[in-house]
Amino acid sequence: MIRKAELRDVPVIFEMINHYAAEKIMLPRPLTDLYESVREFLVAGDEEAQVAGCGALKFYNAELAEIRSLCVAPGTQHRGMGRALTERLLLEAESYGLKTVFALTTTPEFFLKCGFRETARERFPMKVWRDCLRCDRYFHCSEKTVCLDLPRPARPAKTQLEPAEVSA
Ligand SMILES: CC(C)(COP(=O)(O)OP(=O)(O)OC[C@H]1O[C@@H](n2cnc3c(N)ncnc32)[C@H](O)[C@@H]1OP(=O)(O)O)[C@@H](O)C(=O)NCCC(=O)NCCS
Repeated sequence: MIRKAELRDVPVIFEMINHYAAEKIMLPRPLTDLYESVREFLVAGDEEAQVAGCGALKFYNAELAEIRSLCVAPGTQHRGMGRALTERLLLEAESYGLKTVFALTTTPEFFLKCGFRETARERFPMKVWRDCLRCDRYFHCSEKTVCLDLPRPARPAKTQLEPAEVSA
């Protein structure tokens, strides 16, 4: 189940992000920053508020947003949760009428699977001014920039059975 994050989810979100930050896969985020931006977050979890994944959509202007802090709990990778969270964040972005969503990531392959393409970071100077210039890793950054244009083309509706299904 994917839902809006609640304040009680913040400690788990903090733990997950900083687990990957310790491995230099993600950038760390202070607890205070996460409380301030909790309304940007979606979490994947169950009815008991167990959180096993998270991701945030940060707006820059009326056309542009960034997917940030996307991760799933260690040991739960490759079960489709990352894609499901990304899809929900993209639906949210489309519902706001945004034109572009980007991400900076050490895992561009995952985003390419989700329909993003690699692009130049210089396309997003607001991100560079706001975060990159004050980042310790600015001069040896290993993150790639990926982006996706919105709205995505509508997927063709399945109107008739494929031959394989007919004969099955
Ligand atoms: C990246 C991450 C969010 C992906 O979540 P996930 O739940 O494991 O991914 P999914 O199971 O939804 O995978 C979707 C597709 O991406 C592929 N994929 C996932 N992680 C991948 C990786 N590290 N490298 C290459 N492909 C990857 C999957 O194989 C799958 O492809 P398929 O549709 O052809 O089978 C997760 O691995 C994670 O939390 N990583 C650590 C933090 C991180 O790197 N965050 C990235 C944003 S900074």
